[in-house]
Amino acid sequence: MTDWQADDVVAAQYADGGLLAARRALDARFGTGERSHYEWLFDHLDLGPDAAVLSLGAGHGAFWGANADRVPDGWDVTVTDAFQGVTADAMDALADAPHEFTFDVVDARDIPYPADTFDAVTAHHVLAHLGDADRRQALAEIARVLTPTGELHAATSGDDALTELWAVARDHGDVPDERPFTLQNGAAQLRDRFAAVERRHLDAPLVVDAPEPLVAYVLSLPGFDPEAGPALERAFRARFVDGTLTVTGDRGVLIARHPDTA
Ligand SMILES: C[S@@+](CC[C@H](N)C(=O)[O-])C[C@H]1O[C@@H](n2cnc3c(N)ncnc32)[C@H](O)[C@@H]1O
Repeated sequence: MTDWQADDVVAAQYADGGLLAARRALDARFGTGERSHYEWLFDHLDLGPDAAVLSLGAGHGAFWGANADRVPDGWDVTVTDAFQGVTADAMDALADAPHEFTFDVVDARDIPYPADTFDAVTAHHVLAHLGDADRRQALAEIARVLTPTGELHAATSGDDALTELWAVARDHGDVPDERPFTLQNGAAQLRDRFAAVERRHLDAPLVVDAPEPLVAYVLSLPGFDPEAGPALERAFRARFVDGTLTVTGDRGVLIARHPDTA
């Protein structure tokens, strides 16, 4: 388990949606894909007109906010997170959305719903927060609440995601070397619980034209001292070429089908 996976560290990160929003801003402002990351993820949620969907670790609800006008009327979507603070932020963010969502506080390791309830579970950028045993527990819970034809959508980063940002961050703080659930190593973990796993890759880089959002991203991470801000800014600025820094995207989604609840 890495230091960043400790329960108290994760709880401090997601007491509300503020730190998450700082990281999300980088993608929202500088992503180069034809569609935003969240729209791209929704494109892969191909469930038909009626579906029960459980969204685990939904944070401040940005994925559903970005796609609210695309959610079919017949979808019953339960938006959840382990922490009350971000869940409240999601409720606020989606209060006026063109789709009516249900909200709950749910820990992925102990899902309070009956077996065979959901046609899909989303766990976007969530499973890497859990230590290995907790992740296995969460996957068992997800498999349990899915219908036999249901599917898990687990968005995550690839091994090379944000390489240029991590190179600078490592010089100014402790960053775990281990990447516990990536596009590359996550598929094998899902195969413990699912008979079929498919990887879909989004490789749009970020082209960043100011160092400040990169600094804000790094300072939002566990253990980084705000006083490192000026040094981080100088380090990022030194890497800019012709006014921009290209940061590797490398992320995507693992789609797991045929849950095994045995
Ligand atoms: C990186 S954020 C991703 C948020 C959102 N899914 C997105 O893609 O914008 C990770 C989220 O997982 C949540 N989380 C962490 N541990 C969790 C757990 N054990 N059960 C449910 N959610 C958890 C955090 O509170 C946080 O909101």
